[in-house]
Amino acid sequence: MMGIDEKVRKTLAELGVNDAQGVESLFAELRKSAERERAELVSRGAPNQPQRERLCKALRDRWLARKGGFLSQVDENWLKPAGEDLKPAVGRQFNELRRFTASLEFEKLVEALPLQKEASQPTELPPGSGAARPAPRDLTLPGLRRPLGSIHPVTRMQREIEDIFLRLGFWIESGPEIESTYYNFDALNIPESHPSRDDWDTLYIDSKTVLRTHTSPVQIRAMEKYGAPLYIIIPGKCYRHDNPDSTHSPMFHQIEGLAIDEDITFADLKGTLDFFAKKLFGEKVRTRFQPSFFPFTEPSGEVAVSCFVCDGQGCRVCKESGWIELMGCGMVHPQVLRNGGIDPDKYSGWAFGLGVDRFAMVKYDINDIQLFFQGDVRFLEQF
Ligand code: FA5
Repeated sequence: MMGIDEKVRKTLAELGVNDAQGVESLFAELRKSAERERAELVSRGAPNQPQRERLCKALRDRWLARKGGFLSQVDENWLKPAGEDLKPAVGRQFNELRRFTASLEFEKLVEALPLQKEASQPTELPPGSGAARPAPRDLTLPGLRRPLGSIHPVTRMQREIEDIFLRLGFWIESGPEIESTYYNFDALNIPESHPSRDDWDTLYIDSKTVLRTHTSPVQIRAMEKYGAPLYIIIPGKCYRHDNPDSTHSPMFHQIEGLAIDEDITFADLKGTLDFFAKKLFGEKVRTRFQPSFFPFTEPSGEVAVSCFVCDGQGCRVCKESGWIELMGCGMVHPQVLRNGGIDPDKYSGWAFGLGVDRFAMVKYDINDIQLFFQGDVRFLEQF
């Protein structure tokens, strides 16, 4: 049977491949070979460091060398001479092969290749090349070590915030991302005429069902489920009809906070959020509460924190204002308590809602929210 070394030297016509299906299986064979050769080399290991480097380089060159590497031979012998009818399929498969071989990270192979405990017969030939013998497996060798990823910065931020509230005695609650207009709007006092209900801001599934635009609907669900007293935070994904830009994403993350008990006042809200800001950004920061409006809280406020980078003097992070906007908050509206089945004459409560992605941007000094969603490992491995 013809090996891949020989196949890449021939043209598709010489190989008798004349349709897209043939192209696909030929490339699948190449991808399988690349993966197998890498796995064989890793399972065989190397007797010493110079051999380790030589073997890795040989495998890399065999596939990726500009001159004579398999990929460049595929380019020369398969792609370039392909007829008009086959070219799109070959081009697509070639791109896929390039992506696949890049994902095998031949450049980083040296770190993954175990050194054999005892020097064995040195192997000069890269694995998989015509003359290579199947190596006897040494089961005492260390296992295949897969490189570990890292925790996504938004998840890291979410966990930091959760930890602070868990230590204060709050627990974590969650709710559905596909939500009824009742929980997302009506029960929160957001009337039919409110601009956020129109198509421009809200992603509707049907006239009574939306992708939730905030985590606040879980306030009502939790009130119904547990009654009062209630101390919860609600992390989760939210969706809005927002065009992506450096600070907006159509899918983003919020954390909602809700405390309901007897005699809860605005002072409790201020004290808790001030404590929270200091734990997250450092003991030196100050908090600022300004009046605002949300239909589900009365009174409502916006919380800002003095810039933890410049200490309020004005810098790039706080856009020279000395303050960083953190979140919306307020005392739970009596009608909202009632909608959740809680007696507002007996209980009162506060709530807040913050954007986790925006928090992560501020804390880790990231200037574009889109970076969180592009999955680029060069960005992600910095965390
Ligand atoms: C709300 O969503 C209220 N539910 C918050 C609230 C809860 C107020 C409880 C009072 C009591 P707002 O629309 O401002 O509020 O959104 C809260 C945060 O979500 C914003 O500060 C921002 O950080 C984040 N956010 C909103 N839209 C986007 C988006 N498209 N991309 C990224 N983050 C967003």
